[in-house]
Amino acid sequence: MVATYRKRVAILISGRGSNMQSILNATKQPDYPAEICLVISDNPDALGLETAQNANIETKAFSRADYDTKAAHETDIQTAINQANADLICLAGYMRILSADFTNAFNGRLINIHPSLLPKYKGLDTHQRAIDNGDSKHGCTVHFVNSEMDGGKIIAQASVPVLKEDTADSLASRVLIEEHKLYPKVIADLANLI
Ligand code: GRF
Repeated sequence: MVATYRKRVAILISGRGSNMQSILNATKQPDYPAEICLVISDNPDALGLETAQNANIETKAFSRADYDTKAAHETDIQTAINQANADLICLAGYMRILSADFTNAFNGRLINIHPSLLPKYKGLDTHQRAIDNGDSKHGCTVHFVNSEMDGGKIIAQASVPVLKEDTADSLASRVLIEEHKLYPKVIADLANLI
């Protein structure tokens, strides 16, 4: 059997890391075309770092407080990604806005998952905003990242109905189930393309 090259994925997280976990689960399938080469966090206490370490994945934490400037912080993150030879960079609950210098450096290889049907509800509190607007459906989007927050080209979306009795939490839980299916699928599709 010829060993095929699995695309190397670096994941940036700030917290819980459930999307990272869903990608990790997918990479356990022998025919999955990607593997996680590095997990980076701007938060040394991110729960997801522990999850990655338990799975023997290399992790790096870069606390913004250790840097004088945003540029210096991003430079170290960029260097770590390059040293890991990442083919694809996935933001998964990474809670910082990235500069144009950073997003341009990884143009076409940097993607994010956002919990709304973009272009609706860029930014935070997406679930409550969908409820407040009386939307009948809501969901998640995987998109390329450019310097405009949540504004890059849309790659794929998944939707769920908004129920009468929904709270922001109940809606978030149903959307999260879709996120966990959508993100690994999009990563596999891109890994087969790049
Ligand atoms: C997810 O809802 C994701 O769409 C958003 O931040 C949340 C991260 O959750 N960008 P987790 O850390 O992956 O559990």
